[in-house]
Amino acid sequence: MKDTVCIVLAAGDGKRMNSVKPKVLMEVLFKPMLGWVLDSVEKLNPDDICVVTGNGEEQINRYLDTRGWEYTTVRQTVRKGTGHAVMQAEEVLKNSKNALILCGDAPFMDEDTLKAAMEMHKKGECGVTVIAAAPDNPFGYGRIVRDEKGDLLKIVEQKDATIQEQHIREINSGAYWFDSEALLEALPKLSDNNASGEYYLTDAIQLIRESGRRAAVFTAQHKSIVLGANTRHDLYSLNYFARMAVIGDLMTAGVEIPCTDGVIIGKDVTIGRDTLILPGTIIRGKCTIGCGCEIGPNTLLDNVNVGDGVKLNSVQAYSSTIESGAAVGPFSQLRPGSHIGQNVKIGDFVEIKNSNIGEKTSVAHLTYLGDSDVGKGVNFGCGCVTANYDGIKKFRTRIGDNAFIGCNTNLIAPVEVGENATTGAGSTITESVPANALAVERTETKIIQDWEKNKLRKKR
Ligand code: UD1
Ligand code: CA
Repeated sequence: MKDTVCIVLAAGDGKRMNSVKPKVLMEVLFKPMLGWVLDSVEKLNPDDICVVTGNGEEQINRYLDTRGWEYTTVRQTVRKGTGHAVMQAEEVLKNSKNALILCGDAPFMDEDTLKAAMEMHKKGECGVTVIAAAPDNPFGYGRIVRDEKGDLLKIVEQKDATIQEQHIREINSGAYWFDSEALLEALPKLSDNNASGEYYLTDAIQLIRESGRRAAVFTAQHKSIVLGANTRHDLYSLNYFARMAVIGDLMTAGVEIPCTDGVIIGKDVTIGRDTLILPGTIIRGKCTIGCGCEIGPNTLLDNVNVGDGVKLNSVQAYSSTIESGAAVGPFSQLRPGSHIGQNVKIGDFVEIKNSNIGEKTSVAHLTYLGDSDVGKGVNFGCGCVTANYDGIKKFRTRIGDNAFIGCNTNLIAPVEVGENATTGAGSTITESVPANALAVERTETKIIQDWEKNKLRKKR
């Protein structure tokens, strides 16, 4: 017998989004709404998390596979309402004591609210505890109707509410703690005899009361927990709300953001004290940024770890690590798998891919380094290229500590340049260069005297 199972309803279509994606995969701060909900639910560490899918189920399953949790999924083939969606998860409910049911399209439901509601639910030995809130505008939500003792009597949907009931400001968030047995008894009794012709999960409340069990309301502290999105306009509002909340928290934690224009920072980003974030900076995915950095203007970081005192100006970086004291940019790209060592300098128009760059190395201008292992204190002149791809396979380039790579050197991989070795400017290096040696691969300068005069003579 499992103590706690959680069922996330995610079969809705979200036609008004006008997207090929199902609604629950629409993103707030670059994370699907479903992901926000699952983040909160996973923190409760339930015995099982079951996602009810329908529309776009392949896309949802693919997304679930990217997360580190073993979910159960059940399919709702026809969309017949929230009660019908829960019926699909009957097997999951059967082996459990408590069930948390919630919507996959209300991203701001947080674990503190879920936990506090659970405690109240268990303490009161309730059949059901509904998480409620009082948003500024209750239109569209199910209204909480209480009895004279203040207990929950029923929930009426907007479409079915009387004028009087429509005045009630307290609404159903769509998240509930159920006693699993009570819910299992109620589910077969639900009917679709209502304004929408759907099986409402909310009708289970009256049925549970009729069976002699208590129905309670937990009022959430933050009204934002109910916010959802039906349109792209709603999604914009959610993004705005979440964006300012993340920025506000970072400021409290000592991050300096003098102007929030174009600054979008995801919820899985941590930033150290006294780091300065400048306009046009987008930080998404899992990122950790140290203290005293200067990030931006116009910088995109996607799954990047950054040490302390790093400067990134107009940089695009993906799945990479940048150690303390490094400076990158302006106008440079770090593609996945790049490891930039301490105090490295990467200058303008430089692209680094799947490479390790040792500490204090300088790659100052107009250079491409792909699939390379570069030692410490190496200096690249302007315009160097590692030719890592022969059209079929990719090869690595290795460069030892303190090597000096002359301007416009092409290194044709696989190739190795030893420690302290030098390559002459304009060389195309195809053979390994021993330590301390100079490699020059270019023809000697040929001087043809009076070239201009001869040309003019021919023209006459
Ligand atoms: C529901 C509640 C309402 C509450 C509101 C909070 C019911 C009858 N009403 O209304 O009281 O205030 O949520 O947002 O429950 N879903 C399925 N299968 C279905 C129908 C819905 O999986 O057949 C999923 C949707 O993907 C969504 C969630 O259930 O994640 C809620 O469905 P939705 O249609 O948005 O319910 P509301 O009408 O908003
Ligand atoms: Ca809804």
